[in-house]
Amino acid sequence: MDVFTAISQRSSVRAYKDTDVEEDNLKKILEAARLSPSASNRQEWKFIVVKNKETKKKLANAAFGQSFIGEAPIVIVACATESKSIMACGQPAYTVDVSIACAFMILQAHELGLGTCWIGAFNEDEVKKILKVPEKVRVVAMTPLGYPDQPPSQKFRKSLDQIVCFEKYE
Ligand SMILES: Cc1cc2nc3c(=O)[nH]c(=O)nc-3n(C[C@H](O)[C@H](O)[C@H](O)COP(=O)(O)O)c2cc1C
Repeated sequence: MDVFTAISQRSSVRAYKDTDVEEDNLKKILEAARLSPSASNRQEWKFIVVKNKETKKKLANAAFGQSFIGEAPIVIVACATESKSIMACGQPAYTVDVSIACAFMILQAHELGLGTCWIGAFNEDEVKKILKVPEKVRVVAMTPLGYPDQPPSQKFRKSLDQIVCFEKYE
């Protein structure tokens, strides 16, 4: 599968089969994160792989009851181990770095036939407590991971005309 096919086919998966994810596939997805770019190549990240049923349920509760999170065989929780670096453009590096790694994982998962759903709606303090994440570490995102138990959903996107301009902001 080429990159554009993965980008155009992928959609958020909110229902998962009760089928385990092969260790080789999981490893390839984590490798996609490891190989991602980061500001100054700092790689200040940690990815927590959660398979324990009870822990997954707790994470679903910490995500305001999004129960499908707990129903996937795996939940990956993406953390930034350093959050103080501000890039010259004024943006904090950590959300960008960890988000790129998550995007790469999500696309790799899709190529392997696996579903994901970016989860940004969660209580960070609760997630940190559940997973014993140190105080200074930030939780940026999490995603369930597993074989989809739903058909791909239709994409609703703005047109290129609406989001692209040339030479100056219009
Ligand atoms: C930063 C971010 C946070 C999101 N948080 C959630 C979430 O908490 N729960 C959820 O079900 N989907 C969440 N999503 C998924 C979006 O709703 C979804 O990507 C969007 O509607 C487009 O649909 P698609 O992913 O199927 O193309 C999030 C996506 C992003 C990028």
